[in-house]
Amino acid sequence: MSGSQHSTYKPKTGIGRWFDSRMPLPRLVYDSFVAYPVPRNLNYMWTFGGILSIMLASQILTGIVLAMHYTSDTNLAFNSVETIMRDVNSGWLLRYMHASGASFFFIAVYIHIFRGLYYGSYKAPRELLWILGCIIYLLMMATAFMGYVLPWGQMSFWGATVITSFFSAIPLVGNWIQQLLLGGFAVDNPTLNRFFSLHYLLPFMIAGVVVLHIWALHVTGQSNPTGIEVKSKTDTVAFTPYATIKDAFGMIVFLFVFAYFIFYIPNYLMAPDNYTEANPLKTPAHIVPEWYFLPYYAILRAITFNIGPINSKLGGVLCMFGAIAMLFLVPWLDTSKVRSAIYRPWYKLFFWLFVADAILLGWLGSQPAEGAYVFMAQMGTLFYFAFFLVIMPVLGMIETPRRVPNSITEAVLEKKHKGAGGPPAGATAAPKAKS
Ligand code: HEM
Repeated sequence: MSGSQHSTYKPKTGIGRWFDSRMPLPRLVYDSFVAYPVPRNLNYMWTFGGILSIMLASQILTGIVLAMHYTSDTNLAFNSVETIMRDVNSGWLLRYMHASGASFFFIAVYIHIFRGLYYGSYKAPRELLWILGCIIYLLMMATAFMGYVLPWGQMSFWGATVITSFFSAIPLVGNWIQQLLLGGFAVDNPTLNRFFSLHYLLPFMIAGVVVLHIWALHVTGQSNPTGIEVKSKTDTVAFTPYATIKDAFGMIVFLFVFAYFIFYIPNYLMAPDNYTEANPLKTPAHIVPEWYFLPYYAILRAITFNIGPINSKLGGVLCMFGAIAMLFLVPWLDTSKVRSAIYRPWYKLFFWLFVADAILLGWLGSQPAEGAYVFMAQMGTLFYFAFFLVIMPVLGMIETPRRVPNSITEAVLEKKHKGAGGPPAGATAAPKAKS
């Protein structure tokens, strides 16, 4: 349902009316988060947008306090983090919330993205909403990469050295980009300073793009598991209390799991090497990025051969960036007229194969780039690109989808009848919806 709804907000008090006629902020909040109509069949996969919003807020708040105690100087950075852990009041909690928080932010964003791919949320008219999401994802990756350098451990230093070196593979401007990132010819104090500055800036840019993301969402309205657009009032419920309560429950469960990691296994998702101070003279045996970058790292290292004039290093970098670029093109690569995988048996199968492929690539990214691992990564990379460039466009044209209900209400009632052992779906005309 479109966001250009007529406002039903009626201020109850004199102050409310005074405020409303001068700056209708409460009206905006009421129209967007109270009366706002949402499809009645949203499942828990639709709570991850809200979960992401609180994770972003948590990262910004804990980050601001950490920055009060952190020193971005290569001689002091490592010890300043240790001081935060040992001497600052609740410093250990802030740091674990922030460091594990980054991982949980990515867990939530991956679920959110895969949800979009499964239910076809990117399809018209939500292409811009999706593109804004892709920009958020890019900014998140840049922020996380720079944040990881700040504790100035071994993995911080060597991770930054390896990743920035890949930029030098880009013809003509590569060396210039690398030096611009480093602030010199190697990872050193200028690098740490600019990464700290940008690591502080980017989350606010993310917050700005999130506002645009939610604005775009309120213009098109939310999609839903069936992918059928809202057609009548019976297809929707008010955001509050229905979506608010569901979102709150999803958030609480997610935060319980997050809390378990913070309090019981706070270092589970971190590399032990990063508890050793950076040493430019001692390269660690395996340089591995954070888990959320591993599939891209596997793709980067899978290109071990030259492709015509493109050498293997540049080929790897192009494939890695290409893998991310695929996401931006998804709204136009998927040619199917039906949105949701629920009604697309073949797409559903390939979607789950794609999930398995992403997990496999992630595991391969953590293994040494040698022998069978390289071959498997090459096959995984091939399937990754085939999913977007071949399967998505071709399947959309040749697949026969299952019968799609006429409306969200019909889909909901069909499901209810099925659960109650009633008439099979599609056996009767659409039952009349209760209002
Ligand atoms: C900080 C990161 C993000 C925040 C805070 C955020 C927030 C939200 C919120 C609140 C919603 C509505 C609730 C829901 O559908 O879950 C939403 C929907 C959506 N988001 Fe995001 N999002 C983020 C990142 C992304 C990314 C990375 C993508 C894709 C690449 C994306 C794509 C979408 C799409 C397509 C929808 C519409 C879903 C539908 O209605 O079916 N978002 N987002």
